[in-house]
Amino acid sequence: MDEKVSATINKYNADRGQLVSILQDIQTEYYYLPKEALIQVSEIMGIPASQVYNVATFFRAFSLEPRGKHLINVCLGTACHVRGAVRVLEKIERNLLIERGETTKDRKFTLETVNCMGCCAVGPAVKIDGEYFGQLSTDKVDSVLTKFE
Ligand code: FES
Repeated sequence: MDEKVSATINKYNADRGQLVSILQDIQTEYYYLPKEALIQVSEIMGIPASQVYNVATFFRAFSLEPRGKHLINVCLGTACHVRGAVRVLEKIERNLLIERGETTKDRKFTLETVNCMGCCAVGPAVKIDGEYFGQLSTDKVDSVLTKFE
């Protein structure tokens, strides 16, 4: 039994209507939703495991796979693509020794790609933990990543 998961459930008085908030808090703690935590939520709250799992898979923000502390989204939409987004992505992959869709071994970074973040004018654009970085070039990648070490 994980104390942090129990404490999170208690914080919301095991209110079934707060299931999404409870899962959000657990994900904030672990950066993803561990299977054991979902089982614990199901047992303590008396919600069928299948229902907890359905909620956890319904929202794109939830991840059932281990994720890094920092989520990097590299835009590969058309506007960013023509301005060199692929080179930026490859540079990040080399720096972190992972490929898109993967998480670094130390669980510091998860690298994902998206198809437009709505800031095409400043492409190539990258978003890290909600912070946008525009007009990125390969030689700016190091300093941007260092901010999140
Ligand atoms: S194409 Fe990259 S932000 Fe729109």
